[in-house]
Amino acid sequence: MHPMLTIAVKAARRAGSLINRASLDLDLITVKHKSENDFVSEVDQAAEQSIIETLLGAYPNHAILAEESGEQGDSEYQWIIDPLDGTTNFLHGFPQYAVSIALLHKQALTHAVVYDPTRNDLFTASKGQGAFLNDRRLRVSKRIKLKDSLIGTGFPFRDFSHLDPYLAMFRDAVQKTSGVRRPGSAALDLAYVAAGRLDGFFEIALKPWDIAAGALLIQEAGGLVGDFVGNENFLDRGNVVAGNPKIFVQLLQMLAPHLTDALRR
Ligand code: IPD
Ligand code: CA
Ligand code: CA
Repeated sequence: MHPMLTIAVKAARRAGSLINRASLDLDLITVKHKSENDFVSEVDQAAEQSIIETLLGAYPNHAILAEESGEQGDSEYQWIIDPLDGTTNFLHGFPQYAVSIALLHKQALTHAVVYDPTRNDLFTASKGQGAFLNDRRLRVSKRIKLKDSLIGTGFPFRDFSHLDPYLAMFRDAVQKTSGVRRPGSAALDLAYVAAGRLDGFFEIALKPWDIAAGALLIQEAGGLVGDFVGNENFLDRGNVVAGNPKIFVQLLQMLAPHLTDALRR
């Protein structure tokens, strides 16, 4: 394992044990409203601080982009961190959430960790080296027809400006696939596409820390990730379509009739 990935794994596992400990007594956790339907708990913040400490402890000159504390440093190496993806699930004791850490080197995703502390599932990838779940090599699923596929998605929950086109997409997805799931952690949803547990995924208006690690996992597992027209700028735009190569193309075709100008950009 590349030393940088080893450090990222260490950071993710530390944050994971902190999250697991906190999950034993959810009533004790202080929660703040970031905005309507958007919560941050002291656990998100403590996990993020612990991750940043571990990463900067090993690489003091690297830069950081983290959900709760924003950007720091200036370097060709930037760590993109979601300390707890799926906070709403976590706060309800619904066991589907993860720590997500990715390294961007000169704008390219190079290392990725998504760690599910409830199942001790560790998803890792390094550019050109494949994707793994614990010690097992991952491949995306082999399903070739949309109608046989299981698709993950995320509902709009804070910003409802794309709700109408989203519902039109959802309506198609419900009718044209074998099932649609909204597990509640985008990073983990993407990891599941890499692992072949989902055949595809789409969501509007995600943030770079939701996507970065999961995207590299999928690419290294032989899948494709893009924005709603199939381009590569999904990290900045936040509109994400992913899947095994066959399902990716069929998802793009399914979504196309529902795209507004804003979603095409
Ligand atoms: C959220 C989760 C959710 C997705 C939201 C994200 P958070 O992240 O990934 O699945 O639908 O768009 O914001 O806020 O729990 O880190
Ligand atoms: Ca998130
Ligand atoms: Ca988060």
